[in-house]
Amino acid sequence: MPLLIVRNDITKMAVDAIVNAANASLLGGGGVDGCIHRAAGEGLLAECRALGGCETGSAKITGAYNLPCRYVIHAVGPMWIDGKHNEREQLESCYRVSLRLAREHACESVAFPLISSGIYGYPKDKALQVAMEVIGSFLLENDMTVYIVVFDKAAYRISEKLFTDITEYIDDVYVDAHTDESEERRRRNLFVRMAPKPLRAESEAAPCAAPEDACAKPDMAPCAPPEDAWAKPKPAPCAAPEDACAKPDMAPCAAPEDAWMEPDMAPCAASEDAWAKPAPFSCASAADDLDARLSRLDESFSQMLLRKIDERGMTDAACYKKANIDRKLFSKIRSDIHYQPSKPTVIAFAISLELSLAETKELLAKAGFALSHSNKFDIIIEYFISRGNYRILEINEALFAFDQSLLGA
Ligand code: AR6
Repeated sequence: MPLLIVRNDITKMAVDAIVNAANASLLGGGGVDGCIHRAAGEGLLAECRALGGCETGSAKITGAYNLPCRYVIHAVGPMWIDGKHNEREQLESCYRVSLRLAREHACESVAFPLISSGIYGYPKDKALQVAMEVIGSFLLENDMTVYIVVFDKAAYRISEKLFTDITEYIDDVYVDAHTDESEERRRRNLFVRMAPKPLRAESEAAPCAAPEDACAKPDMAPCAPPEDAWAKPKPAPCAAPEDACAKPDMAPCAAPEDAWMEPDMAPCAASEDAWAKPAPFSCASAADDLDARLSRLDESFSQMLLRKIDERGMTDAACYKKANIDRKLFSKIRSDIHYQPSKPTVIAFAISLELSLAETKELLAKAGFALSHSNKFDIIIEYFISRGNYRILEINEALFAFDQSLLGA
């Protein structure tokens, strides 16, 4: 099912078939045609000679000789004149015929160059759009992995308008996120400089981990923001579980629920209670408690996904195809309720199900992920979802243009 854009030399692709951007003689030429003939060797030219040429908009198939693939499909694209001479129809036809030939030869994977977008002058963004549309609709009906191989990324760009819009969006939210961070750092530094030097007794009485340490050791709950720690220098009830075991009269810092949900900011929520009633801590009862909690796990990613597919009245196949996800991967997710997907896979399903931003975050959380403004991939996804644009191929084009992982697999 998946359609993937990759940057590579097509002669290096170990797929069942690669497509050549040939000319009507099929006797070789420059560009990708020249590369393929050189890498395949003399045998390819000899076989091509016997084919008697090929019409524009069509394709013929041969063996691959010294190439790592099994077949070469020679497609003859149109020369770009002005876009009003059937160029688009002929280019679409090239892709359709090539895909049909691949299917007839039982190919499971095919790699295309951007036909006509070099020497034949078809504008690259338009050529890519044609390729994505024809291949995308073919994949809704057929099981195949198709690569669009983009050779020279420098010359390639999504439409100027989309590129500019996304760039502006990234600048807005990305810069904001980073500005906030630097502001926070500045504020903290200021605080550190202004803070009075603690008395020895006070410093001993502050066993809480600093937030940095808490990050390094996620099992240690940062007890309170530094301000509070300074303001109330009483012994903090924070303790790592090991310490708690060693000193059974010391209450654990945060309620376990909170600690699970937000491990990086477990406040001393239960601290008043803990101080008032220092419940005896027992490792055995903690283990029982943990067992009980683990036996009541929330709905998993896979369960939520399947539920949402049903709620939307979609078939599984419609959902994974629209998500640009391979059938085999979907079967794994379906058969393993604890399946741990990658983030692009989760987002691909969110796009396929046309989830709102809030629902997307909920689905991501099920797999342990979040959307952040410190990450271009996330911002681009947010850009599309917040505009109600769920066209995965278009989203992938944009992700590719910004050097990010693509959705689907
Ligand atoms: N791997 C992947 N893509 C490539 C490679 C490669 N090794 N080399 C070039 N491309 P072109 P056309 C890209 O000119 O426009 C020949 O002489 C390239 O960047 O190869 O259909 C034929 O014999 C561009 O995006 O093909 C015909 O006479 C794309 O492949 C004529 O050129 C197609 O560029 C066909 O012109």
